[in-house]
Amino acid sequence: MIEFPRNFFWGAATSAYQVEGNNVNSDWWEWEKRVGLRETSAEACRHYALYKEDFNLARQLNHNAHRLSIEWSRIEPEEGKFCQKELDHYRDVILFLRQINLEPIVTLHHFTNPLWFARLGGWQNKKAPKYFLRYVEKVLEVLGDEVNFWVTINEPTVYIYHGFILGIWPPNQKSLLKAKIVRDNFAVSHMQAYRLIHTVYKKKGLPSPLVGFAQHMQAFVPRSPSLKNKFAVYLRNKLFNFDLIERLTRRKALDFIGVNYYSRSLVGAGKSSQETLPLKKNSLGWDIYPEGLYNLLIKLKKYRLPLFILENGICTEDDNLRWEFIYGHLKNIHLAIREGAKVLGYIYWSLIDNFEWDKGFGPRFGLIEVDYLNSQRKIRESARKFALVCKTGRLN
Ligand code: FCB
Repeated sequence: MIEFPRNFFWGAATSAYQVEGNNVNSDWWEWEKRVGLRETSAEACRHYALYKEDFNLARQLNHNAHRLSIEWSRIEPEEGKFCQKELDHYRDVILFLRQINLEPIVTLHHFTNPLWFARLGGWQNKKAPKYFLRYVEKVLEVLGDEVNFWVTINEPTVYIYHGFILGIWPPNQKSLLKAKIVRDNFAVSHMQAYRLIHTVYKKKGLPSPLVGFAQHMQAFVPRSPSLKNKFAVYLRNKLFNFDLIERLTRRKALDFIGVNYYSRSLVGAGKSSQETLPLKKNSLGWDIYPEGLYNLLIKLKKYRLPLFILENGICTEDDNLRWEFIYGHLKNIHLAIREGAKVLGYIYWSLIDNFEWDKGFGPRFGLIEVDYLNSQRKIRESARKFALVCKTGRLN
């Protein structure tokens, strides 16, 4: 029997744009239409209206935490003009989570931007941190007394890789120089937000919150053990997995490290010696590789910070495979905990099926199925199995 620490956080995540619907002032909203995306976010899961129903289901599934994001473009639809109605909405959402005993873990930026901000150059603009901080300050005024866990920015490296290197997400750039500018702006924004959040809490006499960001981490594995491939793995680890964590820990601007983990990536040339047993895959073709998470958690131990699994999940039509995925990853997390990794909790991606960015509604990541024709929710079997773990803190 596998037993997790007491006070472990168990839950699932959503992000505003992917579930709420009608985020009409966001850069993604404009982009979807401009590039003629086959499926646009439109009403999404209607979570903006149905959040109580969704969170009640999470509670029914014994979750004690939920990770959500605040949509900047709702709060500040025009530059410098803040919308009280939307601020009140998010306050209601967070108070509701509290009321049903789900610890809110709040992300301030999850890929989307207000359109006005994007039109000013977005994260390439040297004033980006200033704009972001003004929004964060506003959010803190309204939500600051209800939140203990803040995630400043979700997966900066994924945002940069898709938007500025591959150029397949807005703003469709392919420029290393721009990628670097954006990365620096994210780092500065995180550090300033980190300090601001702590200052505001101190001023208000509130207990110190935990502030971090969510780092997308991949298990980079050499295709064959040649020196060249190993070096390529080293570089990938450095650039994609550890660079920002290094920078921010050095500046003492992290209270915990948020880990988003999905898959493995084979690196380098040659015939793979790792591929003797082909791995199972999710419906997008990503390898399922739970031991990769264990390896990363062990590597992260050296930062001596609490770790928080903020995303880990699978899109699949096979719900048994979903449970196998969760089970395998929990086992590996537990192993890492036994070896000294201080993990605060496990947040599955995602609570409900949702809009998977440029891939549309096809990939099914949810513990809860969404019927997009009538917005009906249906709990999956895997969610019930996970619910038992959430309830007992044990994995049989
Ligand atoms: C992560 C994103 C999240 C979702 C999952 C599948 O990279 O943070 O929004 O798209 O992947």
